[in-house]
Amino acid sequence: MNGSTIAFVGGGNMAGSLAGGLLARGWSAADIRVSDPQEDSRARLAALGVHTTADNTEAVAGAAIVVLAVKPQIMRAACLGIREAVAASKPLVISIAAGTSTESMAAWLGESTAIVRCMPNTPAMLQCGASVLYATPQVGIEQRRIAHEVLESVGYAAWVDREELLHAVTALSGSGPAYVFLMLEAMQRAGENLGLEPGLARRLASQTALGAARMAQEGEVDVVELRRRVTSPGGTTERAIRVFEQTGFREMVEAAMGAACDRSRELAADAAPG
Ligand SMILES: NC(=O)c1ccc[n+]([C@@H]2O[C@H](COP(=O)([O-])OP(=O)(O)OC[C@H]3O[C@@H](n4cnc5c(N)ncnc54)[C@H](OP(=O)(O)O)[C@@H]3O)[C@@H](O)[C@H]2O)c1
Repeated sequence: MNGSTIAFVGGGNMAGSLAGGLLARGWSAADIRVSDPQEDSRARLAALGVHTTADNTEAVAGAAIVVLAVKPQIMRAACLGIREAVAASKPLVISIAAGTSTESMAAWLGESTAIVRCMPNTPAMLQCGASVLYATPQVGIEQRRIAHEVLESVGYAAWVDREELLHAVTALSGSGPAYVFLMLEAMQRAGENLGLEPGLARRLASQTALGAARMAQEGEVDVVELRRRVTSPGGTTERAIRVFEQTGFREMVEAAMGAACDRSRELAADAAPG
């Protein structure tokens, strides 16, 4: 249990996941507040026992931690709306909004604000997310520890020391679940075309991804060696991998992630202070 009061501005999917993760880690519901204009979002969070309100300033007032969990296009208005409350209580501000720079947030919230910018991903909903955090120089050691604890409540959390790297993180783990879903969709369709019943093809594809991901994470062996071990000379896997290589699979992944990274930079430029 932490004992710090945490306020979520925006009570959608990510706020719900984080609040659920914190409660599972032993945080008290009495220490968690959420503000959201939507009555149904508030009701969903109130069912967890946390305090909910439609008023962002009320949620933020006196909180030690403020999590900005609104869509990027709402960030400017949301930050300006809580500027005075933030100046009064000087909380640690954690933003999970994609593409909104700490420079923009500092301009909207006040230059002395301690800000951690974070890029989580959707498996956070199952407490199996991957989040990468970046802290501005105003963030103290204890605040860094708290930010880590908050994001770790929904999965793996790591830090980068250059904000620019969050574009690469967005291209890898932020958008990454969709790449895996695309691969699963393609494997499922190919399995069906080879005669498997759709339900079986779907389950085999996802179970295979789950098992392979666990092997990649839990052992000492890297993915190149893991692939080599499944690829017997002259066998079926070798034939399939050759087709992947010949059709430019690696180049395709490189190009797709490069495009995602470029788009992340464009979105950050669009969200610049003004
Ligand atoms: N979901 C992901 O996988 C993921 C991954 C990485 C980062 N993120 C980031 O996390 C943030 C939240 O994503 P999400 O999926 O949780 O979005 P979401 O489900 O749409 O939640 C945002 C909530 O904020 C509410 N809201 C709108 N304006 C507000 C305001 N001025 N003050 C307070 N609340 C307001 C929204 O209400 P309305 O519906 O009325 O607008 C909505 O309930 C986004 O910035 C996104 O970029 C999400």
